[in-house]
Amino acid sequence: MLSPAPPTLSDGTKVVDLVNVNTREVQMRALSDPELYELEMERIFGKIWVFLGHESEIPNSGDFVTRDMGSDSVLVTRDKSGEVHVLLNLCTHRGMRVSTLDAGNTQIHTCIYHGWAFRPNGAFLGAPVEKETMHGKMMSKEELGLKKARVTLYGGLIFATWNIDGPSFEEFLGDAKWYYDILFKRTDKGMEVLGPPQRFTVRANWKAAGEQSAADGYHTLTLHRWLGEVGNYSKKGEGEGSGGDLSPEMYGVEVSSPHGHALRCIDLGRKIRRMTGLDPDVLSVDEKLNALPPAGMTKEMVEQLKRNLTPEQLHVQTSMPPQVGGIFPNVLFGFVYIPQADGSVVGSMTMHAYVPKGPDKLEFVNWIFAEKDAPQELRDKMLRQTIQLFGTSGMVEQDDSDTWPHMTLAAKGAQGKKMTLKYQAVYETGAPKGWPGPGIVNEGFTKDDTQWHWWLYWRQLMGDAV
Ligand code: FES
Ligand code: FE
Repeated sequence: MLSPAPPTLSDGTKVVDLVNVNTREVQMRALSDPELYELEMERIFGKIWVFLGHESEIPNSGDFVTRDMGSDSVLVTRDKSGEVHVLLNLCTHRGMRVSTLDAGNTQIHTCIYHGWAFRPNGAFLGAPVEKETMHGKMMSKEELGLKKARVTLYGGLIFATWNIDGPSFEEFLGDAKWYYDILFKRTDKGMEVLGPPQRFTVRANWKAAGEQSAADGYHTLTLHRWLGEVGNYSKKGEGEGSGGDLSPEMYGVEVSSPHGHALRCIDLGRKIRRMTGLDPDVLSVDEKLNALPPAGMTKEMVEQLKRNLTPEQLHVQTSMPPQVGGIFPNVLFGFVYIPQADGSVVGSMTMHAYVPKGPDKLEFVNWIFAEKDAPQELRDKMLRQTIQLFGTSGMVEQDDSDTWPHMTLAAKGAQGKKMTLKYQAVYETGAPKGWPGPGIVNEGFTKDDTQWHWWLYWRQLMGDAV
């Protein structure tokens, strides 16, 4: 049960004191403490909207996948009317998992223990030997259905919350929605997954990955340094920033959110200049869209953008589009432009969830997307390239997932747990002149503000009196 007072750990530490709002530091113990983990499952994953997948994973009536919503297994189902449901994967009889599969199709989920049966919408159908009324007479069948979460579909992405009367999904996204719409709601038919998500287990606390996904720009320069030095990604010979230096890519616009969401908007000017030989400032929006369609789109598809986005969103898309960032608490998105050996560019559209599996363990889940309208040749290239870079064996993710276990282990040290994470590089710029998007916006070389807002929201959710 949640206590009515702000939570305090068993050694007397107030949870809010783990985040020092004056010095912008976070106590390292936050990355390993089991007491905090239990609180997170209640106060974060038990309360806010959690990303579970995409509706194209369950296109037909009866389709389902099993996912984790914090520390609980859930069934994500589609019923006969086409509606998507998220149900606690726990039999209301004696608590067995209703489904032990990863995915499947059925109109009746039958518990393997004593045979209680449920519809894809969670309704209790009955128990074996109906005339013997195995479920008794004390509760009605209506009362014995599976526990249901509140569900929303956003651009086909499935989010759910146990907070049935809490804030709407739109309120949760806040100002960040304006930017996410540029990515997830830009085409007429929307996105679909390219196969089931890839998964692997990392021996790390979910927050080590979660706070990185809040648009950590700095680590790109060092941890992913090879991006500027190897193969098609090499920046060598590009004039400014040549010799493998990625630092020019670190200038742009970053959007922070009071709800911990984060976006890095990266300048397309150099890429458009390389492709057209022209100064991007003299090109119209149409000319820029033709020279470099958004990641994952073709020239033939760009007309759709005008039907789905505002002129202001199109301006951002063609000059400084959101390319990487996160949705609080544990989602990373990447809509990035990857140079090819022949001089062309192929986009990647990917989302990761860092699913908590205990204080020291997370499951990395990677979805790869394409627009439904994208031609097969492009889909094939996107799938191959995204696996190569951002998949479970991807070169980028090998880098990232190497740091999280070390941080988690370090946070257990007798001395280590008393050290701090620091977010002291502070923007002093504000939004660029004429920037049309809402939110907490800053321009310039990447800073710590997006990640700091991630922690401030963690502090708010974890520290509030209930
Ligand atoms: Fe499911 Fe008994 S626990 S039928
Ligand atoms: Fe990274």
